[in-house]
Amino acid sequence: MKTKKKILAADLACDYHVASNNSPWLLKLPVIRQINFSEHVQELMEEGPRQLDTNADTQNFQRITKAPEMSLFDALARRKSSREFSSKPLDLQKFGQLLGLSNGLRSNVGNANDASRNAPSAGSLCSCEMYVLALNVDDVEKGLYHYDVGAHGLKQIRLGDFKEWVKRMLLLQSELSEASALIFLASNQGRLRTKYGPRAYRLGLLDAGHVSENIYLVSAALNLAVTATGGFIDDELNHSLGLDGVDDCVVLVLAIGEPV
Ligand SMILES: Cc1cc2nc3c(=O)[nH]c(=O)nc-3n(C[C@H](O)[C@H](O)[C@H](O)COP(=O)(O)O)c2cc1C
Repeated sequence: MKTKKKILAADLACDYHVASNNSPWLLKLPVIRQINFSEHVQELMEEGPRQLDTNADTQNFQRITKAPEMSLFDALARRKSSREFSSKPLDLQKFGQLLGLSNGLRSNVGNANDASRNAPSAGSLCSCEMYVLALNVDDVEKGLYHYDVGAHGLKQIRLGDFKEWVKRMLLLQSELSEASALIFLASNQGRLRTKYGPRAYRLGLLDAGHVSENIYLVSAALNLAVTATGGFIDDELNHSLGLDGVDDCVVLVLAIGEPV
């Protein structure tokens, strides 16, 4: 009886994840059925989940040598969700600071010998990966990228202008398509599960939550507008990034830009 309970609980962690997927109920709406799965997403879905191409072009950021001047107290006091973005492009190095300080290696910030990350993570497995959609970032071609922590740079996944996709299909929150970039926080559940079994699910969400709060606080310190959203179509987004949605899945999206 005990064993049965254990197996059931293990399945439930995975089932819960699948059951909390937005896609099935969203797809019941006729309007979503019409607009869902644009051409390029269909193309990507045919390719299936992909391993990251280690030879892909990478655009490196400068090493972060100077901390934002705002105190932690002020960053906490100013932190807020803002859904209004200026049309001014996001500065490349500022974007690098945001990604690096939020979830990069400490060696990219100060101590070159410190291999740990700027966000805590369960078992130090760094389960939270950051993917980026560049919509309006200075000197960055529009498209999808993976933030390569080791290189402190953006590794290209696919170039293209995905603004209409974001506006109509991805988040159903058209104002977020005016952001300069979207950061997709993806949980590497497979990595966590090898150590923690079904407990990986809660740990992965907690890891991503820590990174998200870092993004909020660093955005406040860099005077950037930011908002998180849990409203996206899981299958479509995961497939676009080449994630299988189970071992690797997006759990939160953050829109970033210069404030109005
Ligand atoms: C996990 C999470 C999911 C969120 N999802 C959405 C969302 O789908 N749409 C949205 O407009 N804001 C979303 N937000 C932002 C919250 O609405 C916002 O944090 C809340 O209203 C408090 O406002 P504040 O961040 O300015 O303090 C989300 C925030 C978090 C942490």
